[in-house]
Amino acid sequence: MPGETILIIGACGQIGAELTMFLRHQYGGSNIIAADIKAPGGELLESGPFEEINVLDQAGIAGIIDKYKVTQIYNMAAMLSATGERFPHKAWELNMEGLINTLELAREKNIRKMYWPSSIAAFGPTTPKVDTPQITIMEPNTIYGISKQAGERWCEWYHQKFGLDVRSLRYPGIISYKTQPGGGTTDYAVDIYFKAKAQGAYTCFLAHDMMLPMMYMPDAIRATVELMEASADKISVRSSYNLAAMSFNPAMVGESIRKYMPDFKLDYEIDFRQKIAETWPGSIDDHQARQDWGWKHAYDLDAMTKDMLDHV
Ligand code: SER
Repeated sequence: MPGETILIIGACGQIGAELTMFLRHQYGGSNIIAADIKAPGGELLESGPFEEINVLDQAGIAGIIDKYKVTQIYNMAAMLSATGERFPHKAWELNMEGLINTLELAREKNIRKMYWPSSIAAFGPTTPKVDTPQITIMEPNTIYGISKQAGERWCEWYHQKFGLDVRSLRYPGIISYKTQPGGGTTDYAVDIYFKAKAQGAYTCFLAHDMMLPMMYMPDAIRATVELMEASADKISVRSSYNLAAMSFNPAMVGESIRKYMPDFKLDYEIDFRQKIAETWPGSIDDHQARQDWGWKHAYDLDAMTKDMLDHV
């Protein structure tokens, strides 16, 4: 990827932080411009350029694109599902206006490639729940999900109308130990490992049998970079690709943790996030991603559990 300069907006978030470090290791720190609403500390700040910017500040982002001669944009800034239900208008503004800002800048400034994440939240209660197809009924009923569904339409529209090379993945719940998620419905699958290590016990806000599609962070990062590096003629989906690795419920994570920590205790205090989870698929058919650009996941539940418990 010689000659590319990549701007990552939302570089301090759960996915943005690891994506930034991965790309910096691969392509050199100075070619990857990290940007977020608040400056980070540590390696993210020390390993390359950082710009403090709000994704809603279109003129400010334009200035950054000019300053560094940016050729690719990753827009990772978003408010997740649970917080979005508490602040619907803010969520819509951040998720939707933020996306449209970057799509429009990408068009105006002849950005070579743009990435934007969608989510399993773009599906809804009327979507088939098992092996959810790439193309299916989508009637999301959270503001986060509605913004992801509408965002997918905007991406496809910019591609069809202007030939913008915009690419996207419908991430499942992402599990990681470096940066914690905030305000999501799938966050339990991260918290459970931290609490297992710290306290030997966890109280889960989703029901024991709530199956959801999930993925370990190294797979999510690799999927993102592989999609972005695939040649454009391989990309047949310009809304967002279904992407899968594993599906599990809280009881299954508990069992997996007990293989390494036999005394781990798991109990349940179900809250409003259960209702959100019930509207999402239990498993995802991602054959299109596998067929088009060779997607293959590496981590299953036990492999992830072992790695998480080694690191948290
Ligand atoms: N992980 C997200 C959430 O729970 C779904 O994309 O909101």
